[in-house]
Amino acid sequence: ALVSMRQLLDHAAENSYGLPAFNVNNLEQVTAIMEAAAELDSPVIMQASAGARKYAGEAFLRHLISAAVEAYPNIPIVMHQDHGQSPAVCMAAIKSGFSSVMMDGSLMEDGKTPSSYEYNVAVSSEVVKFSHSIGVTVEAELGCLGSLETGMAGEEDGIGAEGKLDHSAMLTDPEQAADFVKRTQCDALAIAIGTSHGAYKFTRKPTGDILAIDLIKKIHERLPNTHLVMHGSSSVPQDLLAIIREYGGDIGETYGVPVEEIVQGIKYGVRKVNIDTDIRLAMTAAIRKYMAENPSKFDPRDYLKPAREAAKLIVKARFEAFGCAGQA
Ligand code: G3H
Ligand code: 13P
Ligand code: NA
Ligand code: ZN
Repeated sequence: ALVSMRQLLDHAAENSYGLPAFNVNNLEQVTAIMEAAAELDSPVIMQASAGARKYAGEAFLRHLISAAVEAYPNIPIVMHQDHGQSPAVCMAAIKSGFSSVMMDGSLMEDGKTPSSYEYNVAVSSEVVKFSHSIGVTVEAELGCLGSLETGMAGEEDGIGAEGKLDHSAMLTDPEQAADFVKRTQCDALAIAIGTSHGAYKFTRKPTGDILAIDLIKKIHERLPNTHLVMHGSSSVPQDLLAIIREYGGDIGETYGVPVEEIVQGIKYGVRKVNIDTDIRLAMTAAIRKYMAENPSKFDPRDYLKPAREAAKLIVKARFEAFGCAGQA
């Protein structure tokens, strides 16, 4: 059944677990996530970025997720809009059927320029006003996503600040977070703790000096009733990188957010963990391997099947690690 994000995150808080929120763009990703959820009896958050809406079209995304709801009536599913760049974008998503939206007011409408605090409060409050009146959950963001190690926001063409960020901009201030939630009344708050979007987060396995997991605890102490969200939470598994390289791919040495650090974050109060890159890597590794080993095959189903299986393995591993298996 389609459920509200607030309901799902409240359940996660009451039962001390976290939920991965997976970005989806196509049928194979949606079915991989649903097969994994059904096997582990886990609730599901699927989210669509602006890029996803551009790639698949809003109608196809909505119907893909509706198909998941129909095919798996016993699994609670949230359909969330990721990184809304303006109140108008959030409004359009709600009209199209999304039960939860993110208003990312940490950046201006261009999705590149860091905004002022007052701008963020204003646009986030506006979205909360029209969303709460119709039961839609709102995630807001305070702080700029950026690698504490490199100072970069990550993906070239994705959502994220341009150029190098200040160290302090990449860490959400707990005092300001308390004021922000009081003024906006958002349900969930994405915080900046040193992660960035995409595959290139860190040039070494991150330690406390470049990944501020402890900051989550400080923010949660100020905001015990706000659900904290971690973006840029792919782990960038080294075994997947190895397969991609073995079969002709070109991905340099890079590290993500270790699963055990995310698990610690969940202990400190994180309830939603955004993951996109890991599914991309898993599917690409499987497709490269299949293509190399089966040069005569040309039916897309032949290579999309192992890609879906690889995505499913990642999804199952995150459901188990974050404690949401058995919670549906
Ligand atoms: O917000 C970042 C997600 O990884 C979405 O990426 O804009 O390429 O769909 P995308
Ligand atoms: P990754 O690029 O680490 O998977 O992060 C995805 C994300 O935060 C989507 O909003
Ligand atoms: Na941001
Ligand atoms: Zn994000």
